[in-house]
Amino acid sequence: MTDCKLLVQKAYEGRKNAYIPYSHFPVGAAVLAEDGRIYTGCNIENASFGATNCAERTAIFKAVSEGNRTICAIAIVGVEDDYTYPCGICRQVIAEFAAPDIKIILGKNPDEYIVKTLDEILPGAFTKEDLEK
Ligand code: THU
Repeated sequence: MTDCKLLVQKAYEGRKNAYIPYSHFPVGAAVLAEDGRIYTGCNIENASFGATNCAERTAIFKAVSEGNRTICAIAIVGVEDDYTYPCGICRQVIAEFAAPDIKIILGKNPDEYIVKTLDEILPGAFTKEDLEK
């Protein structure tokens, strides 16, 4: 069973490194990979705003770059006392490396979270299966 609370805690650890000189909006993420490893991430902004990388993609790309191509759960935390949902690009990246029923854990604070699935927040996703048609 996924330890949601631990993943939320790890997402907060990731958030500590958020590089956010422009938005001042910190986001942290933690990904549980198939082999049990946890990868944390933060948002990393850039003076050329479009070059910014979201926390979720930082964490997922860390996992993939170390050989973990299947993620089983992801926790995301943003500003305190509100839920931060993954942006559209991050939903698409989650779809590339996770099953539609992956747990997407949205933390409001270290003790409160809600759990969604990718299918709920990205219905009808375009995936590699579509390319095989
Ligand atoms: N951000 C994330 O890190 N993840 C999301 O899913 C939403 C947006 C970051 C990007 C940028 O650094 C800041 O939040 C404001 O958009």
